Amino acid sequence: MKFFIDTANLDQIREAQDLGILDGVTTNPSLMAKEGITGEQNVINHYKAICEIVDGDVSAEVIATDYEGMIAEGMKLADLHENIVVKIPMIKDGIKALKYFSDKGIKTNCTLVFSAGQALLAAKAGATYVSPFIGRLDDISTNGLQLIEQIRLIYDNYAFETEILAASVRHTMHVIECAEIGADVMTGPLSAITGLLKHPLTDSGLAQFLADHAKSAAANK
Ligand code: G3P
Repeated sequence: MKFFIDTANLDQIREAQDLGILDGVTTNPSLMAKEGITGEQNVINHYKAICEIVDGDVSAEVIATDYEGMIAEGMKLADLHENIVVKIPMIKDGIKALKYFSDKGIKTNCTLVFSAGQALLAAKAGATYVSPFIGRLDDISTNGLQLIEQIRLIYDNYAFETEILAASVRHTMHVIECAEIGADVMTGPLSAITGLLKHPLTDSGLAQFLADHAKSAAANK
């Protein structure tokens, strides 16, 4: 299972990269705005900065919503760095754009996916990744993980190569359950990754080991 971090915050990306287990980054216009990154050149520079930190796929989202606009913007983004994945919204022109990039061998991430039918269309169009937003489904009393299960079944039925990128992951249990289902990738906040480390028995066990070591070292002096 690949671990992506869902942020445009360079410090958090560095921290996740330093752990040695980061496989990529996803961003979106809201995450860029949260970091105060506005204006075309600043956005481009920020994507370049992210690509310098992480050796893995970096999703960069187009703003255009018409076919020609998405192609022009996506080509520009793809030219920035070999790790850029062009992120395209799940809309009619988006499907056409996914097919265009797929035919050109440019990686894509189909975003804002909330149903199995949408995921099927993304796979048919040759998307590299499909991003079902599980947290946002949970927010409206709909089981996001069930959607991951449904997409896994459909993709396996037909051996679609599109990778299921569980997005809008909010916490550690989302990560674990996505792993159980067989999502190919998860993207979430740094806390969902570092939270996996935590167990009180690890902490108390380590404290005991160190105390016993110190006792026997003192006794052998
Ligand atoms: O990866 C999609 C993500 O950015 C949306 O997450 O937490 O805003 O629903 P969230």
